[in-house]
Amino acid sequence: MRKIIIAGNWKMNKGVADSVKLASEIAAAAKPVEGVEVVVAPTYLATAKVADVLKGSAVKLAVQDVHWEDQGAYTGKVSVDMVKELGVEYVIIGHSEQRQYFGETDEKVNKKAAKILAAGMKPIICIGETLDQRNGGQLEAVLSAQVKGAFAGISAEDASKCVIAYEPVWAIGTGVVATDEQAEETQAFVRGVVRGLYGDAVAEGMTIQYGGSMKPGNAAGLLAQKDIDGGLIGGAALKTDSFIAIVDAAVKMVQKA
Ligand code: PGA
Repeated sequence: MRKIIIAGNWKMNKGVADSVKLASEIAAAAKPVEGVEVVVAPTYLATAKVADVLKGSAVKLAVQDVHWEDQGAYTGKVSVDMVKELGVEYVIIGHSEQRQYFGETDEKVNKKAAKILAAGMKPIICIGETLDQRNGGQLEAVLSAQVKGAFAGISAEDASKCVIAYEPVWAIGTGVVATDEQAEETQAFVRGVVRGLYGDAVAEGMTIQYGGSMKPGNAAGLLAQKDIDGGLIGGAALKTDSFIAIVDAAVKMVQKA
C-alpha cells in the first residue's frame, strides 16, 4: 500500500518559540502508525530547534525550499547539505507561492529535486493549476508540463522516492476546497503522467498528496479517494488540534483498509 503522508506547511508563520511549541504538541500527539507519515515544515530559522523537539518522535522534519547549488555567493539561500545536517528528510519545492512570488520555474524545481535526491532526502514536488487555467481547458497541459519538467532526467529509482503534492492554486488558503471527485479525477490524471514517464510500479507506489484548504471537516472524504495519499496542509496545520484531527482521519482510513 502507498504511504499516506500528512505534512504541515507552516509557511511564514510561527517564529522559533511558537514553532517549538507547536512541534512539541504534535510530537506528543502523533503516535507511530504503519503506513502514515506525519511531517512538519517550519521556518528555516526554527529547523534546528524543531529537529531537537522531534527526536525520538514519529514526526519527520521538512523545510519549505532549498537552493540547488552546493555553496557560495547566493545571498539568502540555504543548501541541501545545510538542511540535511539538521536531520531534514523532506523538502517542499515548487510551491505555488514560490512560483507566483519568487520566480520558481519547472526548471528550478527540477534542479532542486535532483540535488535533494542526491543528498538522500525526498522532495515534495508541488504542482497545480490556477482557476483561469482550469476554466480555460488547460488543466491537463499545465499539470503534465509541471510533472514532466520536475522529473526531467531523474531516474526511475530516484522518482520512486519523490512525493507529489497536487495543490490547485484556487484552493490554497481560500477556504475553497476541490471536491473529492475533482481532486480524485485530477490526481488520477497526475498519476497517469507519472505512469507515462516511469511505468506502473513507480506510478502506483508514488504518494500524491492533495493540498488546498484541507481541514478536519473535509479530510476524510478527500483521503478516501483512491489517488489521494495524504495532504499538504497550510492553515489547518498551524493548530495542533486541527492538524492532529487530519492525522487521525488518515490513521482511521489506513486501519480500516
Ligand atoms: P492551505 O495551504 O491548507 O492553507 O490552503 C496549503 C498549501 O499551500 O500547502
